Amino acid sequence: MVDDAGGTAAIERLAAAIAECRRCSLWKDTHHAVPGEGNPRADLMFIGEAPGKQEDLTGRPFVGRAGKLLEGLLSGIGLSRDDVFIANIVKHRPPGNRDPRPEEIRACSPYLEEQIRTVGPKVIVTLGRHSSRYILSFLPVEFDRITEIRGRVYRGVLFGRPVSLIPTLHPAAALYNPGYREALEEDFRVIERELAAADVSM
Ligand code: URA
Repeated sequence: MVDDAGGTAAIERLAAAIAECRRCSLWKDTHHAVPGEGNPRADLMFIGEAPGKQEDLTGRPFVGRAGKLLEGLLSGIGLSRDDVFIANIVKHRPPGNRDPRPEEIRACSPYLEEQIRTVGPKVIVTLGRHSSRYILSFLPVEFDRITEIRGRVYRGVLFGRPVSLIPTLHPAAALYNPGYREALEEDFRVIERELAAADVSM
């Protein structure tokens, strides 16, 4: 896997546009936009829901308790944050950490789509029901509960490129639930196998 200057510049341009974004009103009560970060040519991309308090304060995705759990899961399959790209469907924190609204997801989605096109991951892992619903709608795959589909591999074409989509639970849901934690660990082994099958050396 190579990190190239073109990818870095494109990701930085997007981050600058996101910082100025006024396509919905979420920006009003926030400290920072949280555009996403990581290897701009990563083979593995994670898509979460929306920034929380710590992310809003720092401008970085998954730096709070759910983020620490995510880092632990990554290290369990021999990876670190620097190997992957981590983004959210919504780039500003919803007030009080409420769920993002459909119109906010719609307004923000062009940024995520451009990030996916730029990074070009072979495997995309959606964390939780909001990002899973949004990304799987492109295949299309419908579901009621994330627990029905978690850990399955959906292979398809997204924005013109073949990709494996793996929905899983949101790490925040696993903070107080050991059963969910085990489910996440199981799903990370699926991710590891799918990367190996895609012949990705990370
Ligand atoms: N939860 C998310 O979905 N994204 C973050 O960046 C942090 C917590």
